Amino acid sequence: MSLFPTTKILPTEDIIGREAFIRDVTRRTVEHQSVMIPGPRRIGKTAVATEILRRCREEHGALTASVDLFLQSMPEEFAKKLITAVLANQDSRILSLVQESLAAISRWIQGSELVVRVLNSVEFRWLYHMDRMTGEELVEHALVLPQTLAARQQRPVVILLDEFQDAMAIGGKSLLKRMRAVWQRQPDTAYLFIGSQGSLMQALFGQATHALYRFADVLHLPDISGDIWAQYIERKFEAQGVVLDPGVVAEVLRETGGHPYDTMKVCQALYDIARDFNVSRIDANIAWMALERATGELEAIFQSELRGWDGTPHARRILVRLARNESVYPPGVNAGQVKKAIDGLMANGVIQRVGHGQYVFHEPMFQTYLRDNE
Ligand SMILES: Nc1ncnc2c1ncn2[C@@H]1O[C@H](COP(=O)(O)OP(=O)(O)OP(=O)(O)O)[C@@H](O)[C@H]1O
Ligand SMILES: [Mg+2]
Repeated sequence: MSLFPTTKILPTEDIIGREAFIRDVTRRTVEHQSVMIPGPRRIGKTAVATEILRRCREEHGALTASVDLFLQSMPEEFAKKLITAVLANQDSRILSLVQESLAAISRWIQGSELVVRVLNSVEFRWLYHMDRMTGEELVEHALVLPQTLAARQQRPVVILLDEFQDAMAIGGKSLLKRMRAVWQRQPDTAYLFIGSQGSLMQALFGQATHALYRFADVLHLPDISGDIWAQYIERKFEAQGVVLDPGVVAEVLRETGGHPYDTMKVCQALYDIARDFNVSRIDANIAWMALERATGELEAIFQSELRGWDGTPHARRILVRLARNESVYPPGVNAGQVKKAIDGLMANGVIQRVGHGQYVFHEPMFQTYLRDNE
């Protein structure tokens, strides 16, 4: 494990600056209140949500399940993932079957002691023949399952739905409507929705025209303050017997803006370079090299995000102009086109408006990268 991990599941002691938030959402969800956490990429949504689920399970005895909607394309696929995730808290072996056919999963369920232990009543009988159901029936049953288990076992259920912005692509408005219709009748079950593309997520839950309007409390992940970062970074290096020159941490935080993923990447690079040179003191020179190295590692992500904008006219050009603090109006592009591109960039959580005609990047290293390389 790296000194500064950048894994999806972060060790509890590496999740800094969010304790009050984690406690608050844990309490809400075990009390059956659904919550939605929107936010730009790589700021720690999944890490925080996974920690919340762990606490719901270990400290409050809740049944928990998590489903990632990213790159799923069919409602039946989503249903299958939800069913296996929910049953996995009874027997985790079922997770190894996620890629199998519905018939194979049904056969496994029938042959497992789950039937004797948990699923021995008529309301679970459909699990024995999932392959004979229509897609719609399967989705309907999957949506009902969490509450059925909650009621039987008299425990709260908390379901994490990650990358929820993709729900529209999976089943359109009709899937969202089915979710609402079924889930609002589930007194013991809470849903924890997370998603990048903040404004799309906010629209799903905040606009009266959308099926999930006011279905969940919308809560924003707090930023991690500079002081909390500094304490964490210094403590980590100290434990390795490495000393940081004054000003190094401030310099790192100035460059990353405290963006969680980028800050962890730069800190890991500091550590790696100190080890490569076999030194126990990190100075401004090593800090500079670490920023270069981390930028190199981030380049593939930044480039793939840029490619994602190829389909939106002028977005890429406007992004580069914003990064250079130039006027957002490239020659020959009219105001309507500029507005459309900027709205898209904001909806996707790349930039944020801070004043009339003024925007900041959520990820300062992305801005620096664009400024220096595009
Ligand atoms: N509270 C935190 N303290 C320190 N580092 C953090 C924290 N939260 C996240 N990170 C860092 O950011 C990384 C990315 O976190 P995570 O995958 O949870 O973000 P995300 O918002 O779900 O990203 P994505 O938009 O790609 O789904 C973590 O692996 C970790 O390195
Ligand atoms: Mg995530």
